[in-house]
Amino acid sequence: MCGIVGYVGPREALPLLMGGLRRLEYRGYDSAGVALQRNGALTVLRAEGKLDNLAAVVAAHPASGTTGIGHTRWATHGRPTEQNAHPHVDCGGVTAVIHNGIIENFEELKTPLVRGGHKFTSETDTEVVVHLLEEELAKGKTLDGAALAVLPRLEGAAALAFISAKDPGKIVAARISNAGGVIIGHGKGENFVASDIPALLEHTRTVTFLDHGEVAIVTANSVNFRRLDGSALEKAPQTITWDPIAAAKSGFKHFMLKEIHEQPRAISDTLLGRVERTTGRVVFDQDLKLDDAYVRALGRISFVACGTACHAAMVGKYLIERLAKIPCDVEVASEYRYRDPVVTKGQLLIAVTQSGETVDTLAAMEEGRKRGARVLSVVNVVGSQASRVSDDVIYLHAGPEISVASTKAYTAMLVDLYLFAIYLAQRRDTIDAKTSNSLLAEAFHLPTLMDAVLREEGKVRALAYRYHQAKDFLHLGRGVNYPTALEGALKLKELSYIHAEGSAAGEMKHGINALIDEDLPVVAIALRDSTYKKMVSNIEEVRARAGVVIALANDDDEEIAAHADEVIRIPKTNELLSPALAVVPLQLLAYHIADRRGNDVDQPRNLAKSVTVE
Ligand code: AGP
Repeated sequence: MCGIVGYVGPREALPLLMGGLRRLEYRGYDSAGVALQRNGALTVLRAEGKLDNLAAVVAAHPASGTTGIGHTRWATHGRPTEQNAHPHVDCGGVTAVIHNGIIENFEELKTPLVRGGHKFTSETDTEVVVHLLEEELAKGKTLDGAALAVLPRLEGAAALAFISAKDPGKIVAARISNAGGVIIGHGKGENFVASDIPALLEHTRTVTFLDHGEVAIVTANSVNFRRLDGSALEKAPQTITWDPIAAAKSGFKHFMLKEIHEQPRAISDTLLGRVERTTGRVVFDQDLKLDDAYVRALGRISFVACGTACHAAMVGKYLIERLAKIPCDVEVASEYRYRDPVVTKGQLLIAVTQSGETVDTLAAMEEGRKRGARVLSVVNVVGSQASRVSDDVIYLHAGPEISVASTKAYTAMLVDLYLFAIYLAQRRDTIDAKTSNSLLAEAFHLPTLMDAVLREEGKVRALAYRYHQAKDFLHLGRGVNYPTALEGALKLKELSYIHAEGSAAGEMKHGINALIDEDLPVVAIALRDSTYKKMVSNIEEVRARAGVVIALANDDDEEIAAHADEVIRIPKTNELLSPALAVVPLQLLAYHIADRRGNDVDQPRNLAKSVTVE
């Protein structure tokens, strides 16, 4: 959940570390800090709260050094105070550590250290590591020697980096468990460390991802890899093709707004090269290795995912069951991993994840695999842990998503799952060529329709300003747009802090009707599809109880205005593709309500982009 960065080379490290932390602030913003090493001494600067607070400290206390590490924190153990901010230093003030994750056995490691005279200054689990290192360095070991003695003693999840004035010009970085990425960026006469690619792109595109149980010993001119037992390891660097400009705001007020507006392009990129011109068949690249016999015999698919990605998985279930006639189930990954799931040998487990680093999703994948499933991930971040531990991968090609609230990755997930459902159906002969051609033609038309929806942003903004003071919202949907209702409500609550509930409209009589009164805005997704008539009845139930109805309807629906207080209109597309279009005004509604309320849209309170700890 936290972000880590490191630099070693000839340049002043401080501005590079601050720049890297800016790109990683989405991972946590409870506190931030840097440690710089120069002439046998260490300077540590830290501040509670957002990175701007650290920037003010840095401006007031300019520090110098050509080796350094930096951290932005999302608090797990210990309150979000300066005292608990990373880097943590040893008693001698010469060695520093930064950490993303949780060290589960820290209490047991700490007791003998305290007895031995080590003074702890924070409430964190992390600080124990630097005191353990201090003990090993005192035996005359190098920093990597000390790290290799300490790391195997740590239990839990950890991405770590260390520097020490006792062993200058060196960073030791390590990854323990599947949680928390560590990436080494290879420069010319300089090298970098980061939790995530956007922090490196400005400096290098050549990167190496550390896997579970791997350590990197990084100097200006070398990177050596080791396993936790100290044995040498060969790792091949990869080249990242993302455009660094795409990771900046490009004139939009927030990353979220930029990412909402990037959706037509993200969808075009997702579709690119996915349909064979001559045959009309859906094809994925070589990362998807399912053969036709496997696809034809497939008896069941289970989806695991968290949050927004789970809503995409719910839509995926509708699509695959409708088109490919394969029974599917969907479960939040945090539940799947802790029950006793029944897995048929060879069944497909699909993990849907933007980051590919969500700890619960990774653990559910591992659980499914242990029980005999074949694991496919639908993932955005190339080289992420999920993509590396999967048998098959379908990439989203949505580009970097910086805002904590997921938008373009969600619609790209929907389109990838739509394509995958057609892919399965074509190989199982459950749809004919005419149907699949028409479904695909509509997918290629989606970016144009999305552009049309985005051009109506002003109307949604006006609506947002009318309702921004509401205390609660209810989002209703049916069929394939039931998950859209859940997603609309999730977006609203995570950004605006307004309580919002999403529900299947058919559930209203079973309890939800009790909430309805004249102060409750109800967003009803009432598109001209197989559920339309039922939705109109549900809308009438709301109106009969004086609720305020905001209907999301199709352009050509002349009837709906008579049933609703407000109408948001979107163009018509086929029912199975409609969730990707219907969610766009709901994203805009949540964004503008939150912005009108003065909230920090890109970094909502108490949340982080990648949930790499439980
Ligand atoms: C969505 O806006 C949230 N930030 C969150 O629900 C997110 O979708 C979830 O944490 C899953 O993340 P992932 O897709 O990276 O696995």
